[in-house]
Amino acid sequence: MAFGIPAAQRPEHVPVERVIDFDIYAVQVDDGEYQAQISRQLHAPGAPDIFWTPQNGGHWVTARADLIDEVLADPQRFSSRRISVIEAMNPTPPFAPLQIDPPDHAQYRKLLGLAMSPLAVKALGDQARALAIELIEGFKAKGECEFIGDFAAHLPIAIFMSMVDLPAEDRPQLLDIAESLVRSDSLMDVMQGNQRLAAYTLQKISERRSKPGNDLISQLLAAEVGGKPMDDMTLLGMVDLFLLAGLDTVASMMGFFARYLALNAGFRQRLAAEPESIARAVEELLRRFPIANLARQVIDDCTLGGVSLRGGDLVLLPTAAFGLDERRFERPEAVELERKSKINATFGGGAHRCLGSMLARVELRIFLEEWLARIPDFQLRPGAELSVHSGAVAAIRQLPLVWDVD
Ligand code: HEM
Repeated sequence: MAFGIPAAQRPEHVPVERVIDFDIYAVQVDDGEYQAQISRQLHAPGAPDIFWTPQNGGHWVTARADLIDEVLADPQRFSSRRISVIEAMNPTPPFAPLQIDPPDHAQYRKLLGLAMSPLAVKALGDQARALAIELIEGFKAKGECEFIGDFAAHLPIAIFMSMVDLPAEDRPQLLDIAESLVRSDSLMDVMQGNQRLAAYTLQKISERRSKPGNDLISQLLAAEVGGKPMDDMTLLGMVDLFLLAGLDTVASMMGFFARYLALNAGFRQRLAAEPESIARAVEELLRRFPIANLARQVIDDCTLGGVSLRGGDLVLLPTAAFGLDERRFERPEAVELERKSKINATFGGGAHRCLGSMLARVELRIFLEEWLARIPDFQLRPGAELSVHSGAVAAIRQLPLVWDVD
């Protein structure tokens, strides 16, 4: 981070001592330690709790848990109509319910919530377990895999395909679209990926309109908001949110979990020996490895952390700055199963708190249970470089793992 940006690069209401050159899209790591890297920059001695960066069009960054809590809890001051600080990255049509502020937000959230009932999550978990076992058994004898492509990316896409009842032959196409949206650094790739996804989803909406089934799209088509059915553009935003929200996040989180386990034999052996600790481990690993970088837009002039913000300003909320805030968590970089308070912002907070958090936890727990039961000892491939794509969601690009084969 560089201090002392020329005055021309900051708006008038931004004090010069609050300007730091920080680019969330260019966080450089080659060992996968993304969250610690963010924390070491944002929590460095003397760094302000909230600052302005001229990068990506210019926006505020909140560096502390208290401020992230405050922003997420107050949709009347901070709107989620912009979920990216880069204007071109904001989806059109907007993602409902994520980009709709309360009170209207609740009507859309309720509809997607139907797909996340405890019964539905249980059924999806059973499918995820069967697939996890099949995938692991498929490569176990080889003694190696590229964890993200061979394992992590498959589970969430299979779950989405089951919720929307998509044919198995569409899987490579969806995986390919997801890849360009999630792990590419090129804005062009992302925009093309969005267009391909929109075309795909609109086709499915049209198919379900003429031949309804029991899937999520058919349920949304039959639902009403404000006494009226939703138009195709609203449906498109909802379905694509559901796909993207559950896809890159779960796969990416698994990547950070797997990297940590590969590097920490003691922790890994403990979980393998005590599978009953796995649910607790998931909570602590979620606190330690947040991946989402959220954004909000200031509605009217207001103050935050003693700084004056203008209506229209954008605020970036890196959730890693919450989970690794030493004012909230002692020894924040340590993974401690016995840690008492693990409350964090990894799944966001307030009205938009992640709707899929229960499903995500189930997928993460199943991964650890089934993997450690079959491959209790594994390492990173020696010399592997672990670069991280840093955007709205951070993800390790490739994670080569190796283990001994009997
Ligand atoms: C480890 C995995 C996951 C992480 C870290 C995660 C993180 C988040 C975060 C931080 C938010 C809040 C966004 C904001 O306020 O701007 C969010 C919202 C959301 N997530 Fe997740 N998510 C995960 C998995 C899932 C899954 C599996 C699904 C569904 C299949 C899902 C569906 C959603 C939806 C629909 C919202 C919007 C809720 C609303 O606006 O009311 N997420 N997620």
